[in-house]
Amino acid sequence: MSLTDGFGRKIDYLRLSVTDRCDFRCIYCMDEDPTFLPRSQVLTLEEIQQIAQAFTELGVRKIRLTGGEPLVKSDLVSLVSKLSALPGLDDLCMTTNGSRLTKFAKPLADAGLMRLNISLDTLDEERFKATTRNGQLNRVLAGIDAAREAGYKQIKLNAVAIKGNNDDEIVDLVNYARSKQIDITFIEEMPLGVLSDNRREHSLLTSDEVKAKIEPAHSLISTTERSGGPARYYRMADSNTRVGFISPHSNNFCQECNRVRVTTTGELLLCLGNENSVDLRQAVRNKPNDIEHLKRVICEAMGNKPEKHHFSTGAETQILRFMSHTGG
Ligand code: GTP
Ligand code: 5AD
Ligand code: SF4
Repeated sequence: MSLTDGFGRKIDYLRLSVTDRCDFRCIYCMDEDPTFLPRSQVLTLEEIQQIAQAFTELGVRKIRLTGGEPLVKSDLVSLVSKLSALPGLDDLCMTTNGSRLTKFAKPLADAGLMRLNISLDTLDEERFKATTRNGQLNRVLAGIDAAREAGYKQIKLNAVAIKGNNDDEIVDLVNYARSKQIDITFIEEMPLGVLSDNRREHSLLTSDEVKAKIEPAHSLISTTERSGGPARYYRMADSNTRVGFISPHSNNFCQECNRVRVTTTGELLLCLGNENSVDLRQAVRNKPNDIEHLKRVICEAMGNKPEKHHFSTGAETQILRFMSHTGG
C-alpha cells in the first residue's frame, strides 16, 4: 500500500515532531518568550508510535524526528528503539540543535537512529548566543564530536544563511564541516511566525549568493545525489564533504515533494507553507490502537496536499505558526 497525493506525488517521508519545546530560542524559529503547549494537548509516546506505524504500513520509508528540540523530550531513546523496529522503515533520522548530544548521541545510535542533522549557524560564540538567544556553542561543538564517535551512517550540519548574521562565515562553516568530514547544508530562511519588518525584508540570502561566497575558496561540482529531502548537493574536488543548498525561495522543489509532517499535537500538515491540517490526535484518541482507522484518515488527507508552498514576505499571506511548531 502506498500514499499518493492529488498531483501523483508518492509520499514516503514523514517528519514527526516530538515536542514544541526547546532549550534554545533561535531568532528565525520562535518568539523570545514562547508559550509552550500544555501536556494534555501533546501526543503521548504510544500515540506517536501508533501514528508512525500507520504511516509505515502506508509505505512511508523514512521518518525524521524533529521538534522543537527532540532531545528535550524524555523517553526519546525508548521511542527510537520502538520506531526502529517498525517493519519497512529504511531510514530513521533526527534533526537536533546538538546541545544534548554528548549525553544522547551514543544511546540513540545504539537504539537504531541512523542519521543526524545538527543545526550550526555560526562558529562565533557571541553570535551563537545572539542567534539562539543564549545557547552555548561549545556544547554543540562537543555534541558534534560525540556524534562522530557514535557510529552514525551520516551526519549533516544545517546552517540558516542570514544576511548580516552569518554571511561572512560561510567559508568558515564549510571548512569546519570539511575538517570533521561531514556534510553541510545552507538553508534559505523561510518567513514563518511573526517576524520583524526588518528581518522580513532584508535578511534573505539566496543559495546562489551563498554558493558565490564559497566558490573562490572551493570549487563546487554539481551532483545528482539526494538524501530524500529538498537539498541539492555539490562535491568538493579534494574532500568527501558535500555542500548542500535548500532553496525554498530561489529554487522551488515542491514538484518533487515526498513528505508530510505531524506536529506534537497530532496535526497532519500537508505542506510547510500552508495552514491546512488534519487532526490525527482526535483519530488516535477516539479509536485507540485502531491502526486501520488511522490509515483511512491519513489516506483521505492526501487529497488536500497543495501543489506548492507560497511563502510570502507580505503580512497578509504570512504563515503565522513558527517553525518550532512544525518541526521545520
Ligand atoms: P535529509 O533527510 O538529510 O535530506 O534532511 P532534510 O533536509 O529533509 O531535513 P532537515 O530537518 O535537515 O531540514 C532542513 C531544512 O529543510 C529545514 O529548514 C526544513 O524546514 C527544510 N525543509 C525540509 N522539508 C521541506 C519542505 O517540504 N518544504 C520546505 N519549504 N522546506 C523544507
Ligand atoms: N527558515 C529556515 N530554516 C529554519 N530552521 C528553523 N527555522 C527556520 C526558518 N525560519 C531550520 C533549523 C533546523 C531545521 C529543522 O530548520 O535551523 O536546522
Ligand atoms: Fe530550537 Fe531548532 Fe528552533 Fe533553534 S531552530 S529554537 S534549536 S527548534
